[in-house]
Amino acid sequence: DHLANRRFVSGQFIRKPDQLDYLQEPDIFHDVFGHVPMLTDPDFAAYMEAYGKGGQRAQSLGMLKNLARLYWYTVEFGLMKEADGLRIYGAGIVSSATESVFSLEDASPNRLGFDLERVMKTLYRIDDFQQVYFVIDSIEKLKEVTLQDFGPIYERLKGAEELPIEAVLPSDRVFTRGTQAYAAKGGRFAA
Ligand SMILES: [Fe+2]
Repeated sequence: DHLANRRFVSGQFIRKPDQLDYLQEPDIFHDVFGHVPMLTDPDFAAYMEAYGKGGQRAQSLGMLKNLARLYWYTVEFGLMKEADGLRIYGAGIVSSATESVFSLEDASPNRLGFDLERVMKTLYRIDDFQQVYFVIDSIEKLKEVTLQDFGPIYERLKGAEELPIEAVLPSDRVFTRGTQAYAAKGGRFAA
């Protein structure tokens, strides 16, 4: 409801020094440093509004889980293609110094072209660095895709299989195919 009405809500607490790289709950640093600058982009703000409105509909249709994946892989962990390489726009990446480097430079994660329906089928984890990032061509295109009617997509998603995080499909646009070494080692909590 907040997003649908162009309001953005921030956490009120701030992380402790040992949580500088990552914490699961959004604090004021994540929300204000990570999210707020993106809201000054008119296309991105329109995307967030459309997302909020879509959320209300998804909830009534029982499709919130699928829509949440869209938010996760764009607003939180999205990358964007620019002429001279990939850039970060996801707030979850921006508010982590180490994932900012990892998301762009590490050999471990897959970096795949953004596809709305594909993303809405893809599982995600909230407790570690991502092992897949989806790359958009522009914020304007991201907005356009969100303004379409999700009704037919939801119909297809109802019978569709969920995709594991590490999946790479023949239809994927592959920017970099990751080694998945980070996940194989057990992630950040491994020695
Ligand atoms: Fe966030």
